[in-house]
Amino acid sequence: MKQRILFVCLGNICRSPAADGILRQMVERRGLTESVEVDSAGTYAGHTGELPDSRMRNAAYARGYVLTHRARQVREEDFERFDMLVAMDDSNYHNLFRLAPSPEAREKIFRMSEFFTAHADWSHVPDPYYEGHEGFELVLDMLEEGCAEILRRCVEE
Ligand code: 4NP
Repeated sequence: MKQRILFVCLGNICRSPAADGILRQMVERRGLTESVEVDSAGTYAGHTGELPDSRMRNAAYARGYVLTHRARQVREEDFERFDMLVAMDDSNYHNLFRLAPSPEAREKIFRMSEFFTAHADWSHVPDPYYEGHEGFELVLDMLEEGCAEILRRCVEE
């Protein structure tokens, strides 16, 4: 059965569109587009329609990812369409929990940190918005690791 994964952060211009671009590329490279669908959204609507932050686009491009997602806010229907809603931090997680229309919908909410391997001591993906270049590199390291683990579990199931 097709697995549908939605990455969620605050603005949908840094962390979640990067996760979206990374997992999308992993899925395409492995010929799994029929099995895994990827999207991203933000809990805050203020950046709707925007491309990812240029600092994130540049850092991701340097690793071979082209980020073309346009920001959108998460909506109630996302809990029907997607099998997993993956929050970047506790605040995103709690906002999703509040938005979830049913107990079944709440069971679809995960934290990205649940999929960390080398960064297992972290409980969240830090918001890089007010950080320097290293903040974006750390986020990309975490997202590459988490996406690889999500894909591994999708393929196993
Ligand atoms: P993101 O980063 O949640 O990873 O997209 C942010 C983007 C925008 C804002 C905060 C975080 N903001 O306050 O506008």
